[in-house]
Amino acid sequence: YWELLIFLLALTAATSALDNGLMRTPPMGWMSWERFRCNVNCENDPKNCISENLFRDMADRLAEDGWKEMGYDHVMIDDCWSSMLRDKDGRLQPDPQRFPGGIAKLARYLHDRGLKLGIYGDLGTHTCGGYPGTTLDKIETDAQTFASWGVDFLKLDGCYSNEEDQQKGYPLMSKALNATGRPIGYSCSWPAYRGGLPPSVNYTLLGEICNLWRNYDDIQDSWNSVQDITDWFFDNQEILQPEAGPGRWNDPDMLIIGNFGLSVDQSRSQMALWAIMAAPLIMSNNLRTLSSEARAILQNRAAIAINQDPMGVQGRRLLQERSLIEVYWRPLSQSASALVFLSRRQDMPYQYHTSLAKLNYTAGSYEAYDVFTGKTLSGLSATTEFTVSINPSGVVMWYVYPKMHYEDPQDDGRYPYIRQKYRMSSSLHFHKPRVVPPSLL
Ligand code: GLA
Repeated sequence: YWELLIFLLALTAATSALDNGLMRTPPMGWMSWERFRCNVNCENDPKNCISENLFRDMADRLAEDGWKEMGYDHVMIDDCWSSMLRDKDGRLQPDPQRFPGGIAKLARYLHDRGLKLGIYGDLGTHTCGGYPGTTLDKIETDAQTFASWGVDFLKLDGCYSNEEDQQKGYPLMSKALNATGRPIGYSCSWPAYRGGLPPSVNYTLLGEICNLWRNYDDIQDSWNSVQDITDWFFDNQEILQPEAGPGRWNDPDMLIIGNFGLSVDQSRSQMALWAIMAAPLIMSNNLRTLSSEARAILQNRAAIAINQDPMGVQGRRLLQERSLIEVYWRPLSQSASALVFLSRRQDMPYQYHTSLAKLNYTAGSYEAYDVFTGKTLSGLSATTEFTVSINPSGVVMWYVYPKMHYEDPQDDGRYPYIRQKYRMSSSLHFHKPRVVPPSLL
């Protein structure tokens, strides 16, 4: 009887997300598009053009500057990598000048460093940048080609394709990737080409065939763009939030932290909101010249731990105050949760007064670890009134967990998941949960 029950449970779990076992937490890594676009001018700009050197350099940075250990393990090639012509057997091939070693060699270079390689294709006649696309008749060939190169991830864009081709093509590519026998993470831009919302978009189907999907517009290097994307995702949270889970993620697009458009406060805001959204943490920046502030934000252990929480529940916006303060919340495993207080103001730091009870927390005592200052607030009860000071276009982000009422002599008093996975400093005391978590809204 038990075996049958477990079998049935396994069956439902297996059908609720693309069954390739990949991306049980949001994928992390680096992708070329937002920062390096379709720069193919290697003569004038050899360091920044789309070439094997760029991806090798970024792989070196990920492997040598502590990124890989934090979970940033994918290097993803976006558009403009291929030759304008397929080879004589109809296969895609990289541009011979810019990728003289070929993709297989680049994949080996990454694998030798414990990293994974992502590549870009487009279900249509051409990619968005005008390179050869993957029309329906080419899907199997391209899946086989990518697998034979040792590629670990595919972003399949949707320029120059129609609704019918998408309806057929996205599921077909999913099947074709599975049929290669190589585990290949699969990102579908399909919903972004259909307005991102039902009835034009079928999220049930997407969850079964893709590991992640772009729902909305491309991110640009500005705070405006980050706000526009955030607003769209949270305005539509009733629809989008339930669709995410282990193996199936909404993708609000790349992290632009470390580029030109965001202040330090705005960079923290993007990191905090992407963590709340259970968004893929895919940076598009220049890892060779990152400032220490940008790096500290992108490598913030608590923000990453929140993003990578194994329960994989996407967070929600709880409040939009008339003061232009917004409150975001995400439930985490082991009865913990994350809170983000965001200021949309443009004047000066705002003193926001509230309590956990006002944010739907149940009675009990809590502690809060401030993600960006590293300070712990203890002795919070649900009704304790507190004040946070939030900078203009900045955030205060808390990791909240119930405080134990007694010390278990077997327990070293620290919160196990975060401690093991992210080796947070031992001065932090994360206590075993005892109080019921705030229920899902
Ligand atoms: C589209 C995608 C972007 C990027 C470009 C490449 O706009 O949404 O993320 O891949 O194409 O041309």
